[in-house]
Amino acid sequence: MKNRRFILKTHATGLPGPEHFVLVEDEAPEPGPDQVLVRNHFVTIDPAMKGWISEAKNYASVETGATMRAFGVGEVVSSRHTDISPGDFVCGMTGWQDYGIADATQPFFRKVDPDHGPISTALGIYGISGLTAYFGLIDIGQPEAGETVVVSTAAGAVGSAVGQIAGICGCRTVGITGGPAKAALCTDIFGYDAAIDYKTESDLAGTLKSACPDGIDVYYDNVGGATLDIVMTMLNVGARIVICGTAATASWSPPPQGPRLERAILVARAKVQGLIIFDYAERFPDGLEALHNWAAAGQIVWREEIIDGLANAPKALASLYQGDNMGRLLLGLIIECNIQFIEIKQ
Ligand SMILES: NC(=O)c1ccc[n+]([C@@H]2O[C@H](COP(=O)([O-])OP(=O)(O)OC[C@H]3O[C@@H](n4cnc5c(N)ncnc54)[C@H](OP(=O)(O)O)[C@@H]3O)[C@@H](O)[C@H]2O)c1
Repeated sequence: MKNRRFILKTHATGLPGPEHFVLVEDEAPEPGPDQVLVRNHFVTIDPAMKGWISEAKNYASVETGATMRAFGVGEVVSSRHTDISPGDFVCGMTGWQDYGIADATQPFFRKVDPDHGPISTALGIYGISGLTAYFGLIDIGQPEAGETVVVSTAAGAVGSAVGQIAGICGCRTVGITGGPAKAALCTDIFGYDAAIDYKTESDLAGTLKSACPDGIDVYYDNVGGATLDIVMTMLNVGARIVICGTAATASWSPPPQGPRLERAILVARAKVQGLIIFDYAERFPDGLEALHNWAAAGQIVWREEIIDGLANAPKALASLYQGDNMGRLLLGLIIECNIQFIEIKQ
């Protein structure tokens, strides 16, 4: 069986682009014990890919010449897993390729029931995005009713779920996002109490202060950089900061300069904690159950943007760092859909 796959040509020092990848064609891989071969229907385009293909120290990395790492969901073609048969749907770390191996020992490996909604949701609200939002907010952010929760990349896959979960917890929610269309999504679709477009806002600090009259109790940070610097000046005593992503920093070499934050942390007795979602793998079923229940009750909506065709993967990744996506960015490998926007409410 022929298999097209993107391999990493060179490590990136800044933002990833098409120059870092090359498309090759060879035979589809053979599954080993506890593995299945999957015909990918959808694969992910993730902000984390910048770190995965850089040479800087990271929690995960891709070697040059290796297939680009990505989450995927699709139909099982052959199986060496006792509970999974050809024709089943699974998600796992299947890579930017037509056919990938999903390994039962990998985080995010699971059988997907297509009766529970489009299988693409296993890569978004019922996958890495929803689970990252859930565990980051609930475990680290520990929101309490009446508190103010600020979220960056507020209209994105993770951010939109964080805002809605914080709303379910009875918090005031303030989203920071890029562009008027995304700010409108935040308030009109994702239920934020206020949204700020940091790209056109000339006084981000002043506007954020007005949007958070009682200060900030939880900051779910997906960007770091200058936005984090501003939020740190508005923390309430006992604030929690969830460090989930650093989208605003294109390169860590040389390290970017900014204000020292230790005084703000000390005065607010704030807790700052990093999150790597893989650490929560054993608790994914609990997170999925909560997300399914909220969706079934109509309390959570989500948005996906699906770009057609494996060949578009590097271009789609580059566009993610321009903030072009208006939902969970996925690549559709089977369905001829061009660009599709899906808003789903169960
Ligand atoms: N720690 C973990 O385990 C974990 C797991 C999953 C995701 N994450 C992180 O969660 C964050 C959101 O991920 P996602 O999958 O939901 O993506 P997303 O928010 O749907 O898309 C990425 C967004 O990042 C923002 N962005 C891109 N380049 C930027 C820049 N130069 N400056 C400021 N913002 C920029 C854009 O939103 P705006 O237009 O709103 O700025 C863009 O739409 C990312 O930082 C990702 O790394 C972390």
